[in-house]
Amino acid sequence: MTMTAHTYILNNGHTMPAIGIGTFGSDKYTADEIANAVYGAVKYGYRLIDCAEVYGNEREIGGSLKRLFDEGVVGREDIFVTSKVWNDHHREVRKSCERSLSALGLSYLDLYFIHWPFPNYHAPGCAGDARNKDSVPFSVDEFISTYRQCEELYRDGLIRAIGVSNMTVSKLEAVLPHVEIMPSALEMELHPAFQQPELFRYALERGIRPIGFCPLGSPSRPERDRTEDDAAAMELPEVKTVAGAHGVHPAAVCLKWASQRGAVPIPFSVKEAQYRSNLDAVCSDPLTDAEMEALARADRNCRLVKGQVFLWEGASDWRELWT
Ligand SMILES: NC(=O)c1ccc[n+]([C@@H]2O[C@H](COP(=O)([O-])OP(=O)(O)OC[C@H]3O[C@@H](n4cnc5c(N)ncnc54)[C@H](OP(=O)(O)O)[C@@H]3O)[C@@H](O)[C@H]2O)c1
Repeated sequence: MTMTAHTYILNNGHTMPAIGIGTFGSDKYTADEIANAVYGAVKYGYRLIDCAEVYGNEREIGGSLKRLFDEGVVGREDIFVTSKVWNDHHREVRKSCERSLSALGLSYLDLYFIHWPFPNYHAPGCAGDARNKDSVPFSVDEFISTYRQCEELYRDGLIRAIGVSNMTVSKLEAVLPHVEIMPSALEMELHPAFQQPELFRYALERGIRPIGFCPLGSPSRPERDRTEDDAAAMELPEVKTVAGAHGVHPAAVCLKWASQRGAVPIPFSVKEAQYRSNLDAVCSDPLTDAEMEALARADRNCRLVKGQVFLWEGASDWRELWT
C-alpha cells in the first residue's frame, strides 16, 4: 500500500505536497544510498524531493527518477522536485540550474531556491572553523541580482516557482519590495526546539509556504554543525510525552507538529522503515490542540545550522549571519 499526503496550493497556482524527503547526506551517506532511498520513498508515496546541487547526488537521484518514470511508478507531473543554487554560483544561476536539470534528467524544476542569501563559499566537508577570505556580509543589491536571474528562469519555464532559504524577517523585509515575482516558499530550519515563530508567521502572512529543514533536529548532522549547547528535538520531554500518548516514535511527533502547523517538513532518511514511518506520521493520527499548544511551549530557540563557515573577516559571531 502507498501513502498519500495532503497538498498545498502555492501562490503561483501550483500544487506542493505536504511532506518531502530530504537528500543531504550530512557527509555520512553516499549518493547511491540516497538515490536508492529516493526510489523507495517515491514508490511508497513521497511526491516531493528536496535536492540541491551542493549535496553532490543529483545525477544519482536523476537515475532513480528515470527508473521511476520508466517503470510507470510516477510521471513527471506527479512529483515535485526542488533544487538550489549554491553560494559560489550566484552570478551564473542559469548555468547552475541547467546543470541540476541535466543531472536530474528533467526539463523543469518545480521550485528553485537561492540556497543561502550570501555568495560565501566553503569547501564541501570543511571544518567548523574554516573561513573563506572572500566572504562578505549580506547585500540587498547582490541578493536581488541573483533573484533577478531566478525570475528569468521562471519566465523561461525552467523553474515553476522561486524559493528563498536561510532568510530572516529583516532580510525578507529588505528584499521583497524589489522582487517582481514573489517567492512561493521559504526553506528554513524548523523543529520543536527551533520554531522561529516570527519568521514562520511572516512567511505565511505573505503567502510564502514554509518548508522545514532539519525537522527531526538533524541527529546525523555533520560535526561542523554541532555544539555542546545544542538541544535534541526528539529528546525534548514535551515531544516524548506526546509520543508516549500516541504510542509513536518522537520523530513522528516532530513531523505531525510541523505539518499541522502548516510547514512542509522534509525529513531525511535512507532507512526504509524510517522514511515510511515519516510519511505515515503526517497522513494519520493528528495531534490534539492541547498537544500542539504543549509543543509550542517546547521551543528552545536553538538553531542547529548556524552557518559559521560563511562568516566574513571581521564578523564576530555566527549570530551576525541571522540579523
Ligand atoms: N536549505 C538548507 O540550507 C538546508 C539545510 C539543512 C537541511 N536541508 C534539507 O533538509 C533535509 C532534512 O534535514 P536533515 O537531513 O539535516 O535533518 P533531519 O531530517 O531532521 O534528520 C535526519 C536524520 O534523522 C534520523 N531519522 C530520520 N527518520 C527517523 C525516524 N523515523 N526515527 C528516528 N530517526 C529518524 C536519521 O538519522 P540516522 O541517519 O542516524 O538514522 C536521519 O539521518 C536535508 O536532507 C536537506 O534536504 C536544507
